[in-house]
Amino acid sequence: MCYVALVRFAFLLAASATACFGAAPMGWNSWNSFANIVNSQIVQQQAQALAANGMKEAGYEYVVIDEGWWLGERDGAGNIVVNPRQWPAIRPGQKDGDMANIADYIHSLGLKAGIYTDAGRDGCSMYPDSGPKYLNTGSEGHYEQDFVQFSKWGFDYVKVDWCSGAEEKREGAVQYAQVARAIQHAEKTTGRRLFLSICEWGSQNPWFWAPGVAGTESTIWRTGGDIIPPVVESLEDPEHAKRFITLKNVLDSFEAGMHPEAQHTGYYNDLDMMVMGMRGMTDAMDRVHMGLWVMASAPMMVGSDLTRLSPATLSLLKNREALAIHNDPYGLQPIKVAEPTPGLQVWAKPMAVAGRRAVAILNRTDSSAPVKIDWGKLGLVGTPRSLRDVWNGRNFTAADPAFSIPAHDLLLLSVDGEDKKPAEYPANQSDIAGIQATHGPMFARLEYANASGQVAVVRVKSTSGLSTALALPPTHGSDTGMAGFLLPGGTADLSFEAQIVAVRKLAVYSW
Ligand code: GLA
Repeated sequence: MCYVALVRFAFLLAASATACFGAAPMGWNSWNSFANIVNSQIVQQQAQALAANGMKEAGYEYVVIDEGWWLGERDGAGNIVVNPRQWPAIRPGQKDGDMANIADYIHSLGLKAGIYTDAGRDGCSMYPDSGPKYLNTGSEGHYEQDFVQFSKWGFDYVKVDWCSGAEEKREGAVQYAQVARAIQHAEKTTGRRLFLSICEWGSQNPWFWAPGVAGTESTIWRTGGDIIPPVVESLEDPEHAKRFITLKNVLDSFEAGMHPEAQHTGYYNDLDMMVMGMRGMTDAMDRVHMGLWVMASAPMMVGSDLTRLSPATLSLLKNREALAIHNDPYGLQPIKVAEPTPGLQVWAKPMAVAGRRAVAILNRTDSSAPVKIDWGKLGLVGTPRSLRDVWNGRNFTAADPAFSIPAHDLLLLSVDGEDKKPAEYPANQSDIAGIQATHGPMFARLEYANASGQVAVVRVKSTSGLSTALALPPTHGSDTGMAGFLLPGGTADLSFEAQIVAVRKLAVYSW
């Protein structure tokens, strides 16, 4: 079954018989700006802003209600009971205290609805926020019941946190596989897709086991702790009044999220909800944040108050050329290809258009700095044919211009050139051994058929010690599936354990 947002890839689907794949989800999440004061009115206002300010057209489609939406109460049959004043009827004929009201409202704006729970007994119980401690806000012992309920209410997305999963010392891979199976059961029950957002904070290396966990067709997994403690500006709370965001918050989340060998088409490292435009962020910091999240093809759940975004922040969030980098069908993370002086970094990644690279030049230092790019480090032959400044939508006229990057800023480039010739591996093998990536990570493009009707998980084992999972969703009829992925440095073997995948083409590009 194909669940993914095909519309964002319509151009590519027309060009090739590619199987289903999805970009990392985009939307809004309540936590960073509203924490546990979230309620129906706030969610309606944010959803309206998303639908009216052009973000929806740009591809932001999910409205996700994070923790604080219920306080742990269940009825005698174990069904979740919510506060009727927090979630009242919105339209005539609806009942107070029914989460279907808000999901229906979000849908009425042409958006998708998301909700939150914990894999353990309790949620984070409002930590690190200042609310009272509520127990039993998790789904442990109720997975099937809760996920069916979320789906019946009309939710399309569920973020599953790890607060008491961690406290109870559970094994993430085991627990989230149960969650994934309960979600599949819910999907069968209602016929509605329920996207799984794993929020395990990277504590048990989810990049090794989350891709394709229990046969999920597309997943995201959080790679670190919270980018910031929430900043609820309307709260008269001295703790909140002190909070503001620094560049370090953004850079730390980006760095914790770099697991490029695990990420591939449809399966994404989650660097956390975005903080663009929030207290402490400048326009330059917004550019760094946006640039890094699109370069990483990370989930883009904006955690800001959408009713108060400045024109500059909004226009950056909607920048079409930047979002095209985010939505690139390979969906890869970048590699740091150069750091000529400490803090001055060049990050690059291959895009699905042959010979195209997305490049970010990040200046983490306190002063403006010139940068010269060595194009050979991007796996290109000679100098590029064209260079585009993504923020301003303009081509550079010089073939090899000199770049000067202001302090704490980021320049985003789209570069077109010629790929170095790839090494090609014969088709129809069940194991491909000894792929050489001795000089560091290499980029690979796999075309495959998977007629099993299920997601196949292929192990990529490397002498570098990294063993990652490549999840390959099913293909149908004569369709060809495609996955772009990065091989860890060293010698890598691909073993198609499940024997259900036919390799049509594997090309490995030197980089
Ligand atoms: C954890 C998660 C956050 C948020 C809060 C809610 O800290 O990492 O993203 O969901 O819980 O309490």
